[in-house]
Amino acid sequence: MNVEKGYVEARIPKGIDLKQEILRLKKEKNAVIMAHFYQRDEIQDVADYIGDSLALAQLAQDVDAPVIVLCGVHFMGETAKILSPEKTVIVPDLNAGCSLSDSCPADEFQAFIKEHPGHTVISYANTSAAVKALTDVIVTSGNAKQIVDSFPEDEKLIFGPDRNLGNYINSITGRDMVVWDGYCEVHEKFSIDKILELKKEHPDAQVLVHPECPKPIRLIADKIGSTKALLDYSVASDCNKFIVATESGIIYEMKKRCPDKEFIPAPPDDAGCACNECAYMKLITLEKLYLSLKYLAPTIEVDEETRIKAVRPIERMLEISNRLGLIKK
Ligand code: 13P
Ligand code: SF4
Repeated sequence: MNVEKGYVEARIPKGIDLKQEILRLKKEKNAVIMAHFYQRDEIQDVADYIGDSLALAQLAQDVDAPVIVLCGVHFMGETAKILSPEKTVIVPDLNAGCSLSDSCPADEFQAFIKEHPGHTVISYANTSAAVKALTDVIVTSGNAKQIVDSFPEDEKLIFGPDRNLGNYINSITGRDMVVWDGYCEVHEKFSIDKILELKKEHPDAQVLVHPECPKPIRLIADKIGSTKALLDYSVASDCNKFIVATESGIIYEMKKRCPDKEFIPAPPDDAGCACNECAYMKLITLEKLYLSLKYLAPTIEVDEETRIKAVRPIERMLEISNRLGLIKK
């Protein structure tokens, strides 16, 4: 038996309309619901805001509501709390972690930084608060290139933790950043062979690729970008068919924006699976969202010493991104 599922279900009154109750509780508690594009369709339906990591960070700083329910993974909730410590920040299931963030423990990253004296430290948003506290500037896939470009050409740079994004940024900027060897288990799992088969079947389709994918997948991309960049590209493009090599949750918003276009999820290596899902993102359900609003729990907490160190590189990212006009709602 799934004990956790039973535990959650036992606390939901029989026969309630979950979506309606969520909207009612949201008003009662003066909360806003933010959701990442990888969330389940029904979570995206009840969210006030849907976005990529960069937009969610900016929104967390901007919104007035005293309560933010962040339907995404733990590091996204932490970023919101670091930026807005006075707000109650909730992630409906604290087990919603991130394999990429887990691939970079703070103590090991600190030792890595020590091995490279004189380097400026750039970290991807998919990191713990403790890693952010060791960092000079945070980036997301929506601004990594521009932020790296903003440093003088001879500046020595460390990039962590995603080796795929780091190597990709090195390749398009001509830099030689020292890259931490971490990766996302979801994006690492796409099958190049199955994508090539799909391309043969659909020669008119373009391939949309998140930069967390390994190089062989990036090499066959028509567009590489953050979830928001891929979404915007699919809307603006004349093409009517896309193979989507990122977590399949983004396809819900793509279809909403382009009802006449076709979106085909790129398959992972696993036998029998047609699409690639992040199990952590999918931990957030309507039931857990309902309970989190009802009890205003579980909350994200960040100790003040870490928060003060971690807020500077996030604010620096937002300041550069706003200056360069990179945050589009
Ligand atoms: P985006 O910032 O592109 O939304 O990506 C977040 C993420 O976790 C990708 O796996
Ligand atoms: Fe983390 Fe990968 Fe899930 Fe994104 S898709 S939240 S990087 S595990």
